[in-house]
Amino acid sequence: MNVADTELIICILNDAGYKYVQDIDAADILLFNTCSVREHAEQRVLGRISNERHRKKSKPELKIVLLGCMAQRIGERLIREDLGIDYAVGVDQYKALPRLLEQNQGCLLDFDTNENYQHLLPVHQGEHCAFVTIMRGCNNYCSYCIVPYVRGRERSRPYEDILQDLQSAVKRNMKDVTLLGQNVNSYHWKDLSFPALLKRLQEDVPELYRLRFVTSHPKDLSDDLVQVMGDGGKLCEHIHLPMQSGSNASLIRMNRSYTYEQYLNRVKALRAASKDIAITTDLIAGFPGETQEHFEATLSAMREIEFDYAFCFKYSEREGTAAAKYQDQLPEELRLSRLQTMIELQREITLNKFRAQIGKEVEVYVESFSKKSMRQVSGKTRDFKIAVLDGDRSQIGTLVRAKVIAATAGTLICE
Ligand code: 5AD
Ligand code: SF4
Repeated sequence: MNVADTELIICILNDAGYKYVQDIDAADILLFNTCSVREHAEQRVLGRISNERHRKKSKPELKIVLLGCMAQRIGERLIREDLGIDYAVGVDQYKALPRLLEQNQGCLLDFDTNENYQHLLPVHQGEHCAFVTIMRGCNNYCSYCIVPYVRGRERSRPYEDILQDLQSAVKRNMKDVTLLGQNVNSYHWKDLSFPALLKRLQEDVPELYRLRFVTSHPKDLSDDLVQVMGDGGKLCEHIHLPMQSGSNASLIRMNRSYTYEQYLNRVKALRAASKDIAITTDLIAGFPGETQEHFEATLSAMREIEFDYAFCFKYSEREGTAAAKYQDQLPEELRLSRLQTMIELQREITLNKFRAQIGKEVEVYVESFSKKSMRQVSGKTRDFKIAVLDGDRSQIGTLVRAKVIAATAGTLICE
């Protein structure tokens, strides 16, 4: 999401006459686009800013801009704290950034529920893959999550804008497109639902190789969507479906609006519609009040479902959220040890999942040379696994068929 927002900001600044330079020494303005989901992400960006602010000594006109969720949440305070930040701009105010830059300092943090950056065409920075925002904001208020407070209410982007964005991406050879939103499957524009959007884009952009989307909420995963996933076509056999916990007691306190049984029902429906679909997830370890029994329910759910991959997070208290007010916060060591247990279990499951691919034929969209050798190329399979194979420059940007001959818990080795 932040990659896509950054591309939108580049578009807005380009239109205002600014030039995007990646070389930090050449820049007159440093922009930091930030995430507030966990405290760790906020700490990291503060570290980055503190590493760069010394540049102001030799270049007094240098300006530092804080953008995104953290700016929205605490930008005003951070400017007052004299950390070197000159401007803070919230998620609905990017269009006003050029105007703000004409002033010496300041904040723009108002929410605007209608702002969906209509008619703007983000400047995608990828070579072969593009991320296209289709909706912004979230209405779900999961009790641990800061997103609804910093990104505001859900709003969908007009179909015409999405189409134009995809067309311009494929024209620039980005043929693997991921549709983005905090809650993509609640996309709704006029009469167009999310499953209908997926169908229409496949028809209207024939040059596209692959279509993906993140992130889906299990409660909004309709039978229509399951069916469209089963139809295949350009739509890839992968879904990221955050489960968060396998314990119903935790799920209720997380305000996730589904039980484990309902989640499992969606997984089964997806697998019935699309036999080899890869399912990845997000999990939180050490949520307030999580007992050993609740935690074990999550481990047993992981074993039952066998996710292809799971992003495991240690619960992080976010000021202002409902869960931060729960009295039964767990000690840091317990959160950490549960996180480690989860990661280890998932590594085993992922390794088995990747090994199960050995002997199969897969389609790889080759994106680059592999990190290790210029005689090998690397890309992704349709079900979102990294694959490496012998190859050369001519294959980059193309689809190749390959046979999996070995696997680690993160890479398929192919020939
Ligand atoms: N602590 C830990 N993980 C969190 N996530 C969201 N909020 C928190 C939090 N307070 C995780 C969820 C979500 C992913 C993007 O980040 O698993 O799906
Ligand atoms: Fe946060 Fe829940 Fe919205 Fe996802 S669905 S962004 S976890 S509130």
